[in-house]
Amino acid sequence: MSDIPARPVLLTGASGALGRVLVPALAAAGWTLRLTDLAPFPDALPPGTSFTRADLADGVAMLRLAEGCGAILHFGGVSVERPFEEIVGPNLRGLYHIYEAARREKARVIFASSNHSVGFHERGTTIDADDPFLPDGYYGLSKAYGELMGRLYWMKHGVESVLIRIGSSLPEPTTARMLASYLSYDDLIRFAIRAVMAETVGVSVVWGASANQAMTWWRADDRGRIGWTPEDSADGFAGRLAGRVSNDPVEERYVGGAFCRIDYTREDPPA
Ligand SMILES: NC(=O)c1ccc[n+]([C@@H]2O[C@H](COP(=O)([O-])OP(=O)(O)OC[C@H]3O[C@@H](n4cnc5c(N)ncnc54)[C@H](O)[C@@H]3O)[C@@H](O)[C@H]2O)c1
Repeated sequence: MSDIPARPVLLTGASGALGRVLVPALAAAGWTLRLTDLAPFPDALPPGTSFTRADLADGVAMLRLAEGCGAILHFGGVSVERPFEEIVGPNLRGLYHIYEAARREKARVIFASSNHSVGFHERGTTIDADDPFLPDGYYGLSKAYGELMGRLYWMKHGVESVLIRIGSSLPEPTTARMLASYLSYDDLIRFAIRAVMAETVGVSVVWGASANQAMTWWRADDRGRIGWTPEDSADGFAGRLAGRVSNDPVEERYVGGAFCRIDYTREDPPA
């Protein structure tokens, strides 16, 4: 079975941290990639790729970029907690433009959702992918909105989505929390390939963490439908990072960690 998509793939957020990981890996796999971002692409463009600078706010540009594409890896947008007004454009309106483009092209969307869509679940509990959203800020809320957008476009237009709730995807884990939430770059790359290549996915939700022993927060998801199993693990960092915790009870209590603390005004935290 070939792992090269029949049609080109559009990657938004190409100039971001994860975009710059995916571009060389997918290009090396022989994929034809259309890359886009608000920021210039900082690396040399590998063969089979082209880059167009554009704002997700420009719906016409997104329609043009998606023309002829079979899948959209949607990694662009605001990727941290910010004031509501800064989130609305890229993450709500921009996401709508991506789904409208996918609808027109009958393309599949692979959406970089986040653990922050469920960030206020407690670390001491274990949740499944269909447990309630519990966003820990406007950023997490925008990811929950994105996931619901995926469901809307599936039910109404038959647009497929793979929604990956990424934990912490960095070169390596740097805190005790990431002993659970870490997603290695190689596991992310393998995920992206499976998410695009899988035969049918409907709307699939996947927890984006490597095979970390400390990951007791998340259980059932739809990874079996796309044929992805993480192969890496943060376990080798446990000795070095176990003590790397904050002194903040809110941060340490919840899955979303430091994002939960931002603008937190409750004086009566739930018992
Ligand atoms: N890295 C992680 O650990 C992690 C965890 C959870 C979710 N995610 C999600 O994965 C995706 C990629 O994450 P990242 O770490 O590469 O983030 P990043 O911030 O490095 O990259 C995001 C990119 O989006 C671009 N962008 C922002 N606004 C835009 C706009 N209006 N129009 C066009 N492009 C715009 C930025 O220029 C940037 O290059 C994001 O959606 C993020 O929310 C990442």
